[in-house]
Amino acid sequence: MVSRLLALAPLLSPVALGQRSELGATDFIRFGCSQLVIERADPLVSPGLNPSPHTHQIVGGNAFNITMDPAHLDPAQTATCTSCIYTEDNSNYWTASLYFRSPENGTFKRVPQMANGRLNGTLLEQEGGLTVYYMRPFSGTNKKTVAFKPGFRMFAGDPALRTKAGTYPGICHRCLSAAERITGGSGAPCDRNDTPELPNKPCPGGIRATVIFPSCWDGVNLDSPDHRSHVAYAPTSPALAGDKCPASHPVRIPQVMYEIMFNTTQFNNPEYWKDGKQPLVYSFGDPTGYGAHGDYLFGWKGDALQRGMDALGKDCGSEDCTRVLKIQSGKDAIACTKPQQAKEDVGTGTWLKELPGGMPITYS
Ligand SMILES: *[C@@H]1O[C@H](CO)[C@@H](O)[C@H](O)[C@H]1NC(C)=O
Ligand SMILES: *[C@@H]1O[C@H](CO)[C@@H](O)[C@H](O)[C@H]1NC(C)=O
Ligand SMILES: *[C@@H]1O[C@H](CO)[C@@H](O)[C@H](O)[C@H]1NC(C)=O
Ligand SMILES: *[C@@H]1O[C@H](CO)[C@@H](O)[C@H](O)[C@H]1NC(C)=O
Repeated sequence: MVSRLLALAPLLSPVALGQRSELGATDFIRFGCSQLVIERADPLVSPGLNPSPHTHQIVGGNAFNITMDPAHLDPAQTATCTSCIYTEDNSNYWTASLYFRSPENGTFKRVPQMANGRLNGTLLEQEGGLTVYYMRPFSGTNKKTVAFKPGFRMFAGDPALRTKAGTYPGICHRCLSAAERITGGSGAPCDRNDTPELPNKPCPGGIRATVIFPSCWDGVNLDSPDHRSHVAYAPTSPALAGDKCPASHPVRIPQVMYEIMFNTTQFNNPEYWKDGKQPLVYSFGDPTGYGAHGDYLFGWKGDALQRGMDALGKDCGSEDCTRVLKIQSGKDAIACTKPQQAKEDVGTGTWLKELPGGMPITYS
């Protein structure tokens, strides 16, 4: 496994990502999404709660709401704009916000996000946003994936984790060097340059968080009570999709991956990062990073995602899928935003006495 991941590393380098003919770059669609809203809302884990317990940074279609019951709402039909570059993608993608807690006085400030500058990222990921990948198996002969059905949603990671045990190798953080600020770092996602925990030293180029979702589906359920058990990771490949799915989850789905770039520059004073301690805490009260997680709510129109995945290796690869999928300008993606539903200061440039919602910090 390790050797296969290492072998992938050059395929995912910025250079390879731009070349359709490269083997690696033909195995995924990658695109930027600008910020839709930062708020306490979570239609997957706490539908109907306004505000939900912790702050999220959300991108995608503007049908995003406190409640998104698939029986009453199809984002593909309801959204009137999307903050992602492909206009047929009204899905929603979200993760927890990250905060700096001042070691001097205990107050909190949200760590700003920044664009993932590879290829066209800087053109459209205003206010950070995130980068989305849909991947097919990198290995094996059968690379066919079955796109999600309307109503499909899922969750990756476990917010309760505070130790390395039980963490999934596809959820990780990378401490970027100054030279990697724009490219976001090269090599395979969650390789030996990444850690499941938050970095314990200042990162001159910021921190890149990666969340890789499962690549196998039970073929029946659009969701499950824990939002995880209807999907599974391929057993033969802990991080990236292999071509084999377990018998319990036999349907191979596109493997979704998020990359989130945090600009830690203003918090890089070495005084804050002494003796193995680090000053960052996720919005759900996790000062370790082991609980990092992501939420996904499918909302592509019609068969657009299937068309894109089927065209991989032919008319589509990396960020070059415009022959198959409809694209909008970065300016239009950036213009798609939503007001907060529960209006509050989430610590954007201001200091907060506590994490939004009074979320306690927990070490176990
Ligand atoms: C959220 O959903 C409610 C109830 O369906 C609806 O009235 C409201 O317009 C929606 N809000 C947004 C901002 O879409
Ligand atoms: C708290 O500490 C931070 C630096 O760590 C400082 O910028 C901020 O002004 C301080 N706030 C108060 C109320 O002293
Ligand atoms: C990162 O934050 C610093 C300090 O606030 C700011 O000067 C810089 O422009 C930011 N960089 C990016 C790429 O957003
Ligand atoms: C990338 O930027 C170039 C130049 O601005 C533009 O022609 C192209 O359509 C963009 N592609 C994507 C995927 O945004």
